Amino acid sequence: MIDACKAPAVVSSTLHDAFEHKARRMGLDPANRWIGGYVDYEWQHLRHIIEALPVRLDGTHVLEFGCNVGASAILFAALGARVTAIDIGADVVELARLNAHRYGLDAIDFRHVGDTRRLPFDDGAFQMVSCNSVLEYVPPAMLPAVQREIDRVLAPGGTILVTGTSNRLSPREVHSRRWLVNYLPRRFDPAGKHVQRGIWPAAARFGFGRHYDNLDHAGDDGLFARSRRAMGMPRARLALLQGAAKVLGTSPGLLSPNIFCVLRKRD
Ligand SMILES: C[S@@+](CC[C@H](N)C(=O)[O-])C[C@H]1O[C@@H](n2cnc3c(N)ncnc32)[C@H](O)[C@@H]1O
Repeated sequence: MIDACKAPAVVSSTLHDAFEHKARRMGLDPANRWIGGYVDYEWQHLRHIIEALPVRLDGTHVLEFGCNVGASAILFAALGARVTAIDIGADVVELARLNAHRYGLDAIDFRHVGDTRRLPFDDGAFQMVSCNSVLEYVPPAMLPAVQREIDRVLAPGGTILVTGTSNRLSPREVHSRRWLVNYLPRRFDPAGKHVQRGIWPAAARFGFGRHYDNLDHAGDDGLFARSRRAMGMPRARLALLQGAAKVLGTSPGLLSPNIFCVLRKRD
């Protein structure tokens, strides 16, 4: 059980003000759940996933892919990982850095990477890559190249965590909350505007390559089941996903509206 005293806490009002000032300058509301409240949100969610993972975080080099304001990166660092965090948005990376500073976490290596089809890291540089709510934002035509690059920088035996990722199977797209949009081909987008859609579970499961094992399964002691129970998922919903996964020979996280899988790269 992760100790509650490891919950990231703001350590300096001056650094807190600097974060809020930067957020406002970017036109963002620092009080918003997905800006100033994002770390607390991940403490209530990602923490339970980390707890279920068969990976020790202490000293593990984690790449937080698509770090946004730094919420997951901050949580991984607070729990002992060595963290490198990247995003395609230069401004958001700066905001993430200020966010980490207000939590007293100065060792995270935040970097702006404009094109994530080429990552500025050596082969096998990381033991873990976290893709939390990000793959669905990568333009579909780029996604295969981005996933190949993530595979390149992950060490053999390393782990990819895919979580919080909008599932194209879902009748309701989780971010926009639009019904049925996932089932519309992209060419039907109104006036050429890009409408948010999920990714297919097969892209999450196999897009990094066929040399990965999914560590999750449909049983009660599966990673999805354990972490979702800890987050308070209703039993009936969990049982439905587990039942469907058993019938289809897959894992429940691949059928959930938010895709979840933990992939281990074979040695
Ligand atoms: C919902 S946020 C991710 C939240 C973050 N992973 C966390 O858990 O704290 C989505 C992020 O994906 C980033 N993004 C979009 N396309 C990307 C790409 N091709 N490569 C890397 N990041 C990308 C966006 O800039 C945005 O910051």
